[in-house]
Amino acid sequence: MPDLKGLILSGGKGTRLRPITHTSAKQLVPVANKPVLFYGIEAMAQAGIEEVGIIIAPETGEEIRTAAGDGSQFGVRITYIVQDEPLGLAHAVLTAEAFLGQSSFVMYLGDNLLQGGIDDLVNAFVAGGPEALILLTPVSDPENYGVAELDGERVVRLVEKPPEPQTDLALVGVYMFTPAIHSAAKAIDPSARGELEITDAIQHLVDRGLRVEPHIVRGWWKDTGRLDDMLAANRLVLDTIQARLEGELIDSQVDGRVVIEAGAVLERSTVRGPAIIGSGTRLTDCYIGPYTAIGRDCTITGAEVEHSILLSGAVVRDLAGRMESSLLGRNVTIGRDQRQPRAYRFLVGDNSEIGIL
Ligand code: DAU
Repeated sequence: MPDLKGLILSGGKGTRLRPITHTSAKQLVPVANKPVLFYGIEAMAQAGIEEVGIIIAPETGEEIRTAAGDGSQFGVRITYIVQDEPLGLAHAVLTAEAFLGQSSFVMYLGDNLLQGGIDDLVNAFVAGGPEALILLTPVSDPENYGVAELDGERVVRLVEKPPEPQTDLALVGVYMFTPAIHSAAKAIDPSARGELEITDAIQHLVDRGLRVEPHIVRGWWKDTGRLDDMLAANRLVLDTIQARLEGELIDSQVDGRVVIEAGAVLERSTVRGPAIIGSGTRLTDCYIGPYTAIGRDCTITGAEVEHSILLSGAVVRDLAGRMESSLLGRNVTIGRDQRQPRAYRFLVGDNSEIGIL
Protein backbone atom coordinates (compact mmCIF):
# COMPACT_ATOMS: atom_id res chain seq x y z
CA MET A 1 0.00 0.00 0.00
CA PRO A 2 1.98 3.04 -1.24
CA ASP A 3 0.35 5.71 0.93
CA LEU A 4 0.73 3.90 4.23
CA LYS A 5 3.30 5.38 6.61
CA GLY A 6 4.88 4.07 9.80
CA LEU A 7 5.19 5.82 13.16
CA ILE A 8 7.39 4.35 15.89
CA LEU A 9 7.24 5.85 19.38
CA SER A 10 10.69 5.91 20.92
CA GLY A 11 10.41 8.85 23.26
CA GLY A 12 9.21 8.60 26.86
CA LYS A 13 11.19 8.04 30.03
CA GLY A 14 11.75 4.32 30.61
CA THR A 15 11.51 4.59 34.39
CA ARG A 16 10.74 0.89 34.88
CA LEU A 17 14.03 -0.31 33.40
CA ARG A 18 16.26 1.91 35.48
CA PRO A 19 19.19 1.95 36.01
CA ILE A 20 19.77 0.67 32.44
CA THR A 21 17.70 3.55 31.07
CA HIS A 22 19.55 6.23 33.06
CA THR A 23 22.19 6.19 30.36
CA SER A 24 20.40 4.65 27.40
CA ALA A 25 17.02 4.67 25.64
CA LYS A 26 14.85 1.72 26.68
CA GLN A 27 14.08 1.05 23.01
CA LEU A 28 17.77 0.31 22.43
CA VAL A 29 18.08 -2.39 25.10
CA PRO A 30 19.00 -5.50 23.08
CA VAL A 31 16.86 -8.61 22.69
CA ALA A 32 19.00 -11.46 21.30
CA ASN A 33 21.71 -8.80 20.74
CA LYS A 34 19.48 -6.54 18.59
CA PRO A 35 17.85 -3.34 19.87
CA VAL A 36 14.12 -3.81 20.54
CA LEU A 37 13.39 -0.85 18.26
CA PHE A 38 14.93 -2.59 15.23
CA TYR A 39 12.31 -5.37 15.34
CA GLY A 40 9.58 -2.76 14.83
CA ILE A 41 11.42 -1.06 11.95
CA GLU A 42 12.02 -4.44 10.31
CA ALA A 43 8.33 -5.37 10.66
CA MET A 44 7.42 -2.16 8.83
CA ALA A 45 9.94 -2.77 6.04
CA GLN A 46 8.65 -6.33 5.69
CA ALA A 47 5.07 -5.01 5.31
CA GLY A 48 6.22 -2.77 2.43
CA ILE A 49 6.17 0.54 4.33
CA GLU A 50 8.79 2.94 2.99
CA GLU A 51 8.36 6.10 5.08
CA VAL A 52 8.89 5.68 8.83
CA GLY A 53 8.71 8.49 11.38
CA ILE A 54 10.39 7.88 14.74
CA ILE A 55 9.33 9.93 17.75
CA ILE A 56 12.33 10.68 19.94
CA ALA A 57 12.86 12.47 23.25
CA PRO A 58 15.43 15.30 23.51
CA GLU A 59 17.52 13.29 26.04
CA THR A 60 17.80 9.93 24.26
CA GLY A 61 17.07 10.94 20.67
CA GLU A 62 20.69 11.30 19.52
CA GLU A 63 21.49 7.76 20.52
CA ILE A 64 18.47 6.48 18.59
CA ARG A 65 19.44 8.51 15.50
CA THR A 66 22.94 7.08 15.65
CA ALA A 67 21.64 3.52 15.95
CA ALA A 68 18.91 3.56 13.28
CA GLY A 69 20.44 6.19 10.95
CA ASP A 70 18.57 7.16 7.79
CA GLY A 71 16.90 3.76 7.67
CA SER A 72 18.79 2.47 4.63
CA GLN A 73 20.09 -0.51 6.63
CA PHE A 74 16.44 -1.61 6.91
CA GLY A 75 15.28 -0.52 3.44
CA VAL A 76 13.09 2.37 4.72
CA ARG A 77 13.46 6.18 4.93
CA ILE A 78 13.44 7.42 8.53
CA THR A 79 12.33 10.90 9.61
CA TYR A 80 13.07 11.78 13.25
CA ILE A 81 10.45 13.80 15.10
CA VAL A 82 11.37 15.33 18.46
CA GLN A 83 8.66 15.32 21.13
CA ASP A 84 9.77 17.90 23.69
CA GLU A 85 8.00 16.21 26.59
CA PRO A 86 6.47 12.72 27.00
CA LEU A 87 2.90 13.97 27.19
CA GLY A 88 1.30 10.75 25.99
CA LEU A 89 0.89 8.50 22.98
CA ALA A 90 -1.85 10.66 21.43
CA HIS A 91 0.37 13.72 21.98
CA ALA A 92 3.09 11.87 20.07
CA VAL A 93 0.65 11.37 17.16
CA LEU A 94 -0.13 15.10 17.15
CA THR A 95 3.60 15.89 17.21
CA ALA A 96 3.93 13.77 14.06
CA GLU A 97 0.94 15.35 12.27
CA ALA A 98 3.02 17.22 9.68
CA PHE A 99 4.96 14.05 8.84
CA LEU A 100 1.82 11.89 8.63
CA GLY A 101 -0.25 14.36 6.59
CA GLN A 102 -3.33 12.68 5.12
CA SER A 103 -1.81 9.19 5.15
CA SER A 104 -3.11 6.21 7.02
CA PHE A 105 -0.41 4.78 9.26
CA VAL A 106 0.78 1.94 11.47
CA MET A 107 1.78 3.07 14.95
CA TYR A 108 4.25 0.83 16.76
CA LEU A 109 5.40 1.40 20.35
CA GLY A 110 9.19 1.23 20.23
CA ASP A 111 9.47 -1.00 23.32
CA ASN A 112 6.98 -3.60 22.00
CA LEU A 113 7.81 -6.86 20.25
CA LEU A 114 5.23 -8.69 18.17
CA GLN A 115 5.86 -12.12 16.75
CA GLY A 116 5.16 -12.65 13.08
CA GLY A 117 5.36 -9.01 11.96
CA ILE A 118 2.48 -6.80 10.84
CA ASP A 119 1.71 -8.01 7.30
CA ASP A 120 -1.60 -9.64 8.30
CA LEU A 121 -2.62 -6.53 10.16
CA VAL A 122 -1.91 -4.23 7.23
CA ASN A 123 -3.82 -6.54 4.89
CA ALA A 124 -6.85 -6.65 7.24
CA PHE A 125 -6.81 -2.85 7.57
CA VAL A 126 -6.66 -2.32 3.81
CA ALA A 127 -9.35 -4.95 3.15
CA GLY A 128 -11.75 -3.89 5.92
CA GLY A 129 -11.37 -0.12 5.71
CA PRO A 130 -12.01 0.76 9.38
CA GLU A 131 -10.93 4.08 10.94
CA ALA A 132 -8.75 2.20 13.39
CA LEU A 133 -7.58 -1.35 13.88
CA ILE A 134 -6.42 -2.39 17.34
CA LEU A 135 -4.64 -5.52 18.49
CA LEU A 136 -5.75 -7.29 21.64
CA THR A 137 -4.45 -10.20 23.65
CA PRO A 138 -5.55 -11.81 26.93
CA VAL A 139 -3.13 -11.08 29.82
CA SER A 140 -3.05 -12.02 33.51
CA ASP A 141 -2.46 -8.40 34.67
CA PRO A 142 -4.80 -6.23 32.54
CA GLU A 143 -4.63 -3.38 35.08
CA ASN A 144 -1.16 -2.57 33.66
CA TYR A 145 -2.44 -1.97 30.11
CA GLY A 146 -5.15 -0.35 28.06
CA VAL A 147 -8.14 -2.72 28.35
CA ALA A 148 -10.88 -3.36 25.76
CA GLU A 149 -14.51 -4.35 26.21
CA LEU A 150 -16.10 -5.95 23.17
CA ASP A 151 -19.66 -6.64 22.10
CA GLY A 152 -19.16 -9.49 19.65
CA GLU A 153 -16.86 -8.09 16.97
CA ARG A 154 -17.45 -4.49 18.04
CA VAL A 155 -15.24 -2.45 20.37
CA VAL A 156 -17.50 -0.72 22.87
CA ARG A 157 -15.12 0.60 25.50
CA LEU A 158 -11.42 1.17 25.98
CA VAL A 159 -9.97 2.15 29.34
CA GLU A 160 -6.31 2.94 30.12
CA LYS A 161 -4.93 0.92 33.06
CA PRO A 162 -8.26 0.49 34.90
CA PRO A 163 -7.84 -0.45 38.60
CA GLU A 164 -10.72 -2.91 38.15
CA PRO A 165 -10.53 -4.23 34.59
CA GLN A 166 -13.78 -5.57 33.13
CA THR A 167 -11.96 -7.95 30.74
CA ASP A 168 -8.48 -9.44 30.42
CA LEU A 169 -8.03 -8.11 26.86
CA ALA A 170 -4.98 -5.83 26.79
CA LEU A 171 -4.26 -3.36 24.02
CA VAL A 172 -1.09 -4.41 22.25
CA GLY A 173 1.21 -1.54 21.30
CA VAL A 174 0.63 -1.79 17.55
CA TYR A 175 -2.25 0.15 15.97
CA MET A 176 -3.47 1.17 12.52
CA PHE A 177 -5.16 4.51 11.91
CA THR A 178 -6.67 6.68 9.21
CA PRO A 179 -6.09 10.46 9.58
CA ALA A 180 -9.35 10.57 11.61
CA ILE A 181 -7.17 9.92 14.67
CA HIS A 182 -5.77 13.48 14.51
CA SER A 183 -9.06 15.21 15.29
CA ALA A 184 -9.75 12.59 18.00
CA ALA A 185 -6.36 13.28 19.62
CA LYS A 186 -7.19 17.01 19.61
CA ALA A 187 -10.61 16.46 21.16
CA ILE A 188 -9.55 14.56 24.30
CA ASP A 189 -8.31 15.83 27.67
CA PRO A 190 -5.21 14.61 29.55
CA SER A 191 -5.78 11.56 31.78
CA ALA A 192 -5.23 11.31 35.53
CA ARG A 193 -1.50 10.59 34.85
CA GLY A 194 -1.36 13.82 32.83
CA GLU A 195 -1.03 12.19 29.41
CA LEU A 196 -3.04 12.40 26.21
CA GLU A 197 -3.89 8.70 25.98
CA ILE A 198 -4.21 6.99 22.60
CA THR A 199 -6.74 4.74 24.33
CA ASP A 200 -8.99 7.77 24.92
CA ALA A 201 -8.49 8.99 21.34
CA ILE A 202 -9.62 5.60 20.00
CA GLN A 203 -12.60 5.67 22.42
CA HIS A 204 -13.44 9.05 20.89
CA LEU A 205 -13.62 7.40 17.44
CA VAL A 206 -15.95 4.73 18.89
CA ASP A 207 -18.14 7.42 20.50
CA ARG A 208 -18.46 9.18 17.14
CA GLY A 209 -19.76 5.93 15.64
CA LEU A 210 -16.60 5.37 13.55
CA ARG A 211 -15.50 1.81 12.97
CA VAL A 212 -12.75 0.46 15.23
CA GLU A 213 -11.90 -3.12 14.40
CA PRO A 214 -10.40 -5.48 17.01
CA HIS A 215 -7.91 -8.21 16.19
CA ILE A 216 -6.82 -10.86 18.66
CA VAL A 217 -3.08 -11.56 18.51
CA ARG A 218 -2.30 -15.19 17.82
CA GLY A 219 1.46 -15.28 18.37
CA TRP A 220 3.31 -13.86 21.35
CA TRP A 221 3.63 -10.20 22.22
CA LYS A 222 5.88 -8.49 24.77
CA ASP A 223 6.03 -4.99 26.17
CA THR A 224 9.70 -4.97 27.19
CA GLY A 225 9.33 -2.17 29.75
CA ARG A 226 10.27 -4.38 32.73
CA LEU A 227 13.13 -6.80 33.47
CA ASP A 228 11.01 -9.97 33.47
CA ASP A 229 9.43 -9.02 30.16
CA MET A 230 12.86 -8.25 28.70
CA LEU A 231 14.11 -11.71 29.71
CA ALA A 232 10.94 -13.32 28.34
CA ALA A 233 11.33 -11.48 25.01
CA ASN A 234 14.96 -12.58 24.89
CA ARG A 235 13.87 -16.20 25.41
CA LEU A 236 11.20 -16.02 22.72
CA VAL A 237 13.51 -14.52 20.11
CA LEU A 238 16.45 -16.82 20.96
CA ASP A 239 14.09 -19.74 20.39
CA THR A 240 13.95 -18.74 16.72
CA ILE A 241 17.63 -18.18 15.91
CA GLN A 242 19.63 -20.24 13.42
CA ALA A 243 22.94 -21.68 14.61
CA ARG A 244 26.01 -19.89 13.23
CA LEU A 245 29.58 -20.37 14.41
CA GLU A 246 31.91 -17.68 13.12
CA GLY A 247 34.11 -17.06 16.15
CA GLU A 248 37.06 -19.12 17.38
CA LEU A 249 36.64 -22.20 19.57
CA ILE A 250 39.67 -23.41 21.55
CA ASP A 251 39.02 -26.62 23.56
CA SER A 252 35.38 -25.48 23.71
CA GLN A 253 32.01 -26.91 22.90
CA VAL A 254 28.67 -25.58 21.74
CA ASP A 255 25.39 -27.52 22.02
CA GLY A 256 22.14 -26.71 20.28
CA ARG A 257 21.23 -23.45 18.57
CA VAL A 258 24.11 -21.11 19.26
CA VAL A 259 25.38 -18.04 17.42
CA ILE A 260 29.04 -17.18 17.97
CA GLU A 261 29.77 -13.96 16.10
CA ALA A 262 33.03 -13.45 14.21
CA GLY A 263 35.76 -12.16 16.49
CA ALA A 264 34.44 -13.91 19.62
CA VAL A 265 36.86 -16.32 21.29
CA LEU A 266 35.87 -19.28 23.50
CA GLU A 267 38.52 -21.07 25.51
CA ARG A 268 37.80 -24.17 27.65
CA SER A 269 34.14 -23.13 27.66
CA THR A 270 30.74 -24.64 26.95
CA VAL A 271 27.78 -22.77 25.47
CA ARG A 272 24.41 -24.49 25.54
CA GLY A 273 21.81 -22.93 23.24
CA PRO A 274 19.72 -21.16 22.48
CA ALA A 275 22.31 -18.47 23.07
CA ILE A 276 24.18 -15.73 21.24
CA ILE A 277 27.71 -14.47 21.87
CA GLY A 278 28.66 -11.07 20.39
CA SER A 279 31.79 -10.20 18.43
CA GLY A 280 34.92 -9.36 20.38
CA THR A 281 33.65 -11.25 23.43
CA ARG A 282 36.01 -13.61 25.24
CA LEU A 283 34.80 -16.59 27.27
CA THR A 284 37.39 -18.49 29.30
CA ASP A 285 36.62 -21.46 31.59
CA CYS A 286 32.91 -20.69 31.39
CA TYR A 287 29.56 -22.35 31.12
CA ILE A 288 26.93 -20.29 29.29
CA GLY A 289 23.47 -21.76 29.67
CA PRO A 290 20.29 -21.55 27.56
CA TYR A 291 18.52 -18.24 26.88
CA THR A 292 21.57 -16.06 27.30
CA ALA A 293 22.51 -13.15 25.05
CA ILE A 294 25.99 -11.76 25.55
CA GLY A 295 26.77 -8.52 23.72
CA ARG A 296 29.98 -7.31 22.07
CA ASP A 297 33.34 -7.05 23.78
CA CYS A 298 32.35 -8.79 27.02
CA THR A 299 34.85 -10.79 29.10
CA ILE A 300 33.64 -13.75 31.12
CA THR A 301 36.13 -15.87 33.02
CA GLY A 302 35.51 -18.74 35.43
CA ALA A 303 31.75 -18.23 35.64
CA GLU A 304 28.39 -19.82 34.86
CA VAL A 305 25.76 -17.57 33.27
CA GLU A 306 22.26 -18.60 32.28
CA HIS A 307 18.98 -16.94 31.19
CA SER A 308 20.55 -13.48 31.15
CA ILE A 309 21.27 -10.46 28.99
CA LEU A 310 24.71 -8.84 29.10
CA LEU A 311 25.22 -5.55 27.32
CA SER A 312 28.47 -4.69 25.57
CA GLY A 313 31.66 -4.46 27.58
CA ALA A 314 30.34 -6.34 30.63
CA VAL A 315 32.95 -8.26 32.65
CA VAL A 316 32.16 -11.27 34.87
CA ARG A 317 35.01 -13.00 36.73
CA ASP A 318 35.33 -16.01 39.07
CA LEU A 319 31.81 -16.36 40.44
CA ALA A 320 31.26 -19.09 43.04
CA GLY A 321 27.59 -19.53 42.08
CA ARG A 322 25.69 -19.47 38.80
CA MET A 323 24.42 -16.10 37.63
CA GLU A 324 20.91 -16.24 36.20
CA SER A 325 17.88 -14.09 35.26
CA SER A 326 20.14 -11.04 35.18
CA LEU A 327 20.48 -7.95 33.02
CA LEU A 328 23.90 -6.30 33.11
CA GLY A 329 24.31 -2.83 31.61
CA ARG A 330 27.21 -1.64 29.49
CA ASN A 331 30.69 -2.05 30.98
CA VAL A 332 29.37 -3.46 34.27
CA THR A 333 32.00 -5.49 36.15
CA ILE A 334 31.19 -8.30 38.57
CA GLY A 335 34.07 -10.26 40.06
CA ARG A 336 35.62 -12.01 42.99
CA ASP A 337 37.71 -9.65 45.07
CA GLN A 338 40.99 -11.08 46.44
CA ARG A 339 41.84 -8.09 48.65
CA GLN A 340 41.81 -8.19 52.47
CA PRO A 341 39.71 -7.78 54.48
CA ARG A 342 37.39 -10.23 52.73
CA ALA A 343 34.25 -8.28 52.02
CA TYR A 344 31.69 -7.41 49.37
CA ARG A 345 32.75 -4.20 47.60
CA PHE A 346 30.19 -2.45 45.42
CA LEU A 347 30.15 0.61 43.22
CA VAL A 348 26.54 0.58 42.02
CA GLY A 349 24.38 3.26 40.39
CA ASP A 350 20.99 4.52 41.60
CA ASN A 351 18.05 2.08 41.48
CA SER A 352 20.27 -0.96 40.86
CA GLU A 353 19.24 -4.35 42.15
CA ILE A 354 21.71 -6.98 43.33
CA GLY A 355 20.91 -10.45 44.69
CA ILE A 356 23.79 -12.24 46.47
CA LEU A 357 24.14 -15.84 47.65
O1 DAU B 1 2.53 -1.85 25.70
C1 DAU B 1 1.15 -1.68 25.49
C2 DAU B 1 0.60 -0.53 26.29
O2 DAU B 1 1.33 0.65 25.88
C3 DAU B 1 -0.90 -0.35 26.04
O3 DAU B 1 -1.63 -1.44 26.57
C4 DAU B 1 -1.41 0.94 26.69
O4 DAU B 1 -2.75 1.15 26.38
C5 DAU B 1 -0.57 2.12 26.20
O5 DAU B 1 -0.96 3.33 26.85
C6 DAU B 1 0.91 1.89 26.46
O6 DAU B 1 1.12 1.88 27.86
P1 DAU B 1 2.53 2.15 28.57
O7 DAU B 1 2.29 2.83 29.86
O8 DAU B 1 3.29 0.85 28.61
O9 DAU B 1 3.26 3.15 27.59
P2 DAU B 1 4.73 3.73 27.76
O10 DAU B 1 4.67 4.98 28.59
O11 DAU B 1 5.67 2.64 28.17
O12 DAU B 1 5.07 4.18 26.28
C7 DAU B 1 5.08 3.28 25.21
C8 DAU B 1 6.15 3.69 24.17
O13 DAU B 1 5.88 5.00 23.66
C9 DAU B 1 7.57 3.74 24.70
O14 DAU B 1 8.45 3.26 23.70
C10 DAU B 1 7.83 5.21 24.98
C11 DAU B 1 6.98 5.90 23.92
N1 DAU B 1 6.42 7.20 24.33
C12 DAU B 1 5.64 7.28 25.45
C13 DAU B 1 5.05 8.47 25.85
C14 DAU B 1 4.19 8.56 27.07
C15 DAU B 1 6.63 8.32 23.54
O15 DAU B 1 7.35 8.24 22.50
N2 DAU B 1 6.07 9.51 23.92
C16 DAU B 1 5.28 9.65 25.04
O16 DAU B 1 4.79 10.77 25.32
